[in-house]
Amino acid sequence: MLGADLQVPVKGGRLVPYANLDYAASAPCLEPVNAAVAAALPAYSSVHRGAGYASQLTTARYEQARHTVRAFAGARPDDALIFTRNTTDAMNLLARSLPDGTTVVVFDTEHHASLLPWSDAVRLAPPAFPGEAIRAADEALAAVDGPALLVVTAASNVTGELWPIAGLAHIAHRHGARIAVDAAQLVPHRRLNLTALDLDYVAFSGHKLYAPFGAGALIGRPDWLAQASPYLRGGGAVKAVAETTEWSEDPEARHEAGTPNVLGAIALAAACDALSATGWTVLVREEERLLARLRAGLAGIEGVRELSLWGPDHPRVGIVSFVVDGRSAREVAEELSSEHGIGVRDGKFCAHPFVRHLLGTPDGGCDDDTASAVRASIGIGSTEEHVDRLIAALKRLAAS
Ligand SMILES: Cc1ncc(COP(=O)(O)O)c(C=O)c1O
Repeated sequence: MLGADLQVPVKGGRLVPYANLDYAASAPCLEPVNAAVAAALPAYSSVHRGAGYASQLTTARYEQARHTVRAFAGARPDDALIFTRNTTDAMNLLARSLPDGTTVVVFDTEHHASLLPWSDAVRLAPPAFPGEAIRAADEALAAVDGPALLVVTAASNVTGELWPIAGLAHIAHRHGARIAVDAAQLVPHRRLNLTALDLDYVAFSGHKLYAPFGAGALIGRPDWLAQASPYLRGGGAVKAVAETTEWSEDPEARHEAGTPNVLGAIALAAACDALSATGWTVLVREEERLLARLRAGLAGIEGVRELSLWGPDHPRVGIVSFVVDGRSAREVAEELSSEHGIGVRDGKFCAHPFVRHLLGTPDGGCDDDTASAVRASIGIGSTEEHVDRLIAALKRLAAS
């Protein structure tokens, strides 16, 4: 893990080892990811357009990366994988690829990346329990005439809670609709199998998956993508250009105009390989152990409240948001950093409607610091010492 030995200044000028508890925002770079990028750089060249050896090699590496990321996500043989900048970019690409008249149904609990790209969407209130999510989606999709897309997150970036995506996929398909899953916070923590879950589209970001080189992916059914007006217009996306333009029918070429982020794709694939090689059993076991320690520690501090949509026992990934009585989230986060060398996130985590719902402040303004929370998130390389340091610091802070 790069940055594992990072030292950061605290008050008084002392240096302390950084306790990175902000993986949900951006995860650090894995060593094999760094190594894969370094190995690709000496032969780095253009892709899909050069006859030179370096160009051929780089093209092969780029297409191998596509193959690896597809396999990592459990894609079907005919699914398209379009390398994007990130999840936000992937969802916006999908939004522009919807057939005319498509109704989008989305929960208010979504990250803005999945809440906002749709020009007009049916928004569903945060469901009180997982079965209610399925019931609400069922009812909303039953009322749709024409093509429909249900958009849902797999793991919440606010509470870490896992959503019933297999059940939601089943309901969507029963109504002839499709489902797009925001897997940005799922893939760093759990195995994703698009085929087994019967999902139509998934999107995720490399920088949350230990590959901070600016690439993400949209994976899914090729037909809408192959017919959609190209998201980016330019070289590589065309079959022929004369008076008129004939766009490529291959969805990957059609939506990857210009020179792609080859190193980002290689990095993303290397991260997928590294996680698969470590194995999900090991990764999940270690994460659950640390997460239990973190949550038990928080629960033991008077005045600290963990945010949750579906209660403390609902399964979740290594993400916890909380509030400290009488202290603003910004104050808490700043004190954790400046006095203890701990990195967490504070705010509404680009999920304003959801955080307001969890805090019970539905009318609070976006800049209202009292309507914010602190988020601690863990992943590969997180340690007991990081967790214990956070708990000890919060104990002191809550008591002061
Ligand atoms: C659940 C979820 N979806 C989407 C995004 C957006 O990711 P990106 O900023 O990489 O586009 C995030 C980032 O925080 C997220 O947590």
